[in-house]
Amino acid sequence: MPQQVQGVIAPGKNEPVRVETIVIPDPGPGEAVVKIQACGVCHTDLHYKQGGINDEFPFLLGHEAAGVVESVGEGVTDVAPGDFVILNWRAVCGQCRACLRGRPWYCFDTHNAEQKMTLLDGTELSPALGIGAFAEKTLVASGQCTKVDPEVSPAVAGLLGCGVMAGIGAAINTGQVGRGDSVAVIGCGGVGDAAIAGARLAGAAKIIAVDIDDRKLETAKKMGATHTVNSRSDDPVEAIRALTDGNGADVVIEAVGRPETYQQAFYARDLAGTVVLVGVPTPDMKLELPLLDVFGRGGSLKSSWYGDCLPSRDFPMLVDLHQQGRLDLAAFVTETIGLGDIEQAFARMHDGDVLRSVVVF
Ligand code: APR
Ligand code: ZN
Ligand code: ZN
Repeated sequence: MPQQVQGVIAPGKNEPVRVETIVIPDPGPGEAVVKIQACGVCHTDLHYKQGGINDEFPFLLGHEAAGVVESVGEGVTDVAPGDFVILNWRAVCGQCRACLRGRPWYCFDTHNAEQKMTLLDGTELSPALGIGAFAEKTLVASGQCTKVDPEVSPAVAGLLGCGVMAGIGAAINTGQVGRGDSVAVIGCGGVGDAAIAGARLAGAAKIIAVDIDDRKLETAKKMGATHTVNSRSDDPVEAIRALTDGNGADVVIEAVGRPETYQQAFYARDLAGTVVLVGVPTPDMKLELPLLDVFGRGGSLKSSWYGDCLPSRDFPMLVDLHQQGRLDLAAFVTETIGLGDIEQAFARMHDGDVLRSVVVF
């Protein structure tokens, strides 16, 4: 029997979001219905509302979520009703050329649930990032569910489903930060702070946080930054070089998503160092660099998509490290809110007042 639950809809471009009754079909083959316990508010949800992702309105927002599997469809063996899971954007296929070469985090043929969730009048909903978890329940592909230690707080666990995983993965998976490395992180929002926490976890000796907002730099210190630079008052490239014996950092992580901050990252790294772009640019942005500098400075310029994460490997590990007190994921939860508070949470996010607001059911 299809179920009716409450969910948060973005009805049209820049229209306020609202709570509506939505219809969740029973899970079909390879699908699961998950009872959501917590879901973080992410920039991408705001981008959906603003029409910045695509125009497939209405959207069912929310995608940084954890909950309990309620029911599964035919053929589902990886999760079962009662399992506590973190949701990820896309289930990997296991068959494409990336999967077959043992690199499933690059899977070229990921999927979500086949069936559609709808409004009461039958209008099909587009779930944000294939999840749609500002809702009491949601329908996903079973491969989007990763089992983790059920003792962890859902508000904390859900954050691993997107921004925090992107940041930690940018440092550990993409940047391959190692023991003793120097790391600089440009932009210290939720993603940048997670990159700082990831760099600390990987054993970086020096972690330089760069932002234009002193409040963000204070939080960055709590996450593990050993030095801070306000790039409104100081030239970040000069400051990072000065803090690294004149050389630049081994790994520089760009967590803003703008050409000027990318350029800072490019010149603030040591020769043969690594730049990781995890901030998401907009389609109009262009980068101009002397090609000779790209060649002459060597090293690698990488992009980090979802932190190059493999949920089945990374989610349980990071939850375990959190539970052991080695990774303070709770520090990312600024406030917990209700399903009706998303608009206010967007405003607070826009003003830079929060790392994460998390809807708790
Ligand atoms: N130089 C340095 N820091 C900057 C600059 C700049 N020119 N412009 C903005 N910032 C800082 C902001 O002060 C803020 O602390 O970057 C941070 C961005 O943080 P958030 O807005 O909270 O964004 P976050 O969720 O961390 O995501 C960062 O990754 O997922 C993408 O779309 C997201 O592109 C965004 C990026
Ligand atoms: Zn694949
Ligand atoms: Zn997100």
